[in-house]
Amino acid sequence: MQRRLLVAGNWKMHGDKAFTTQFIADFVQEFGGEQRSFDALICTPAPYLSHASDAVSAQSAGIAIGAQNVSPHEKGAYTGEISLPMLSDLGCEYVLLGHSERRELYGETDSHVAEKFAACLSAEPSIVPVLCIGESLAEREAGHTENVVERQINAVLTKVGIDGFKGAVIAYEPVWAIGTGKTASPEQAQQVHAFIRGLLAEHDLSIAENIQLLYGGSVKPANAEELFSQKDIDGGLIGGASLQVESFVGICKAAQKLV
Ligand code: 13P
Repeated sequence: MQRRLLVAGNWKMHGDKAFTTQFIADFVQEFGGEQRSFDALICTPAPYLSHASDAVSAQSAGIAIGAQNVSPHEKGAYTGEISLPMLSDLGCEYVLLGHSERRELYGETDSHVAEKFAACLSAEPSIVPVLCIGESLAEREAGHTENVVERQINAVLTKVGIDGFKGAVIAYEPVWAIGTGKTASPEQAQQVHAFIRGLLAEHDLSIAENIQLLYGGSVKPANAEELFSQKDIDGGLIGGASLQVESFVGICKAAQKLV
């Protein structure tokens, strides 16, 4: 089964308008006219979503735009929050949910994440949820990796059922590999990806076969090809290396080679 690779940048709280414009222009220089065999996505800080989607349209850059968080509520008295209809209005097609930084620093629980996931599916138009999961170093060392990712997925499964995963994306990001320069080995990552796909397959084989499972955690041009060539790894969610267009493009080139 050949799934399309997705290379997604998570800019976290970095960048500004000028950086966004330049990044998209430089990306187009590299990949503009070329037939692409992978999908590209950038998740910019919320204030730049509109600017990024305008720049992508103006330059026919063929990059999807994503947000890094969203409210589960459609509208109302939720000071500081951003709704799904607002994201759609800004040209957003994807949203990251339950990134480990949101879980750790902002107290997002499995059930908050599940609520947001469900809201993505019922929004009009719907937005693709990118469910971020992964274990901490202590959890890995205690041998709990599979229990943790299973718990994180089950919270969403219980809320939306297996059909909710049709067209969704899952990003496995071991917390110990995020921003540390320590990448999971391709074998370690593949093992967890196969486990995740197996969990979904217990409910629906076709959804499990079709879902894009991204790996995140210190992906760079030097390790992308080996990671992405694993059977159950369908691309990456890239933090630090997505902040320089050269390294993001380098990772995209690894994806392009692999078809
Ligand atoms: P790094 O690529 O900087 O390790 O970050 C990964 C990440 O958190 C992407 O969401």
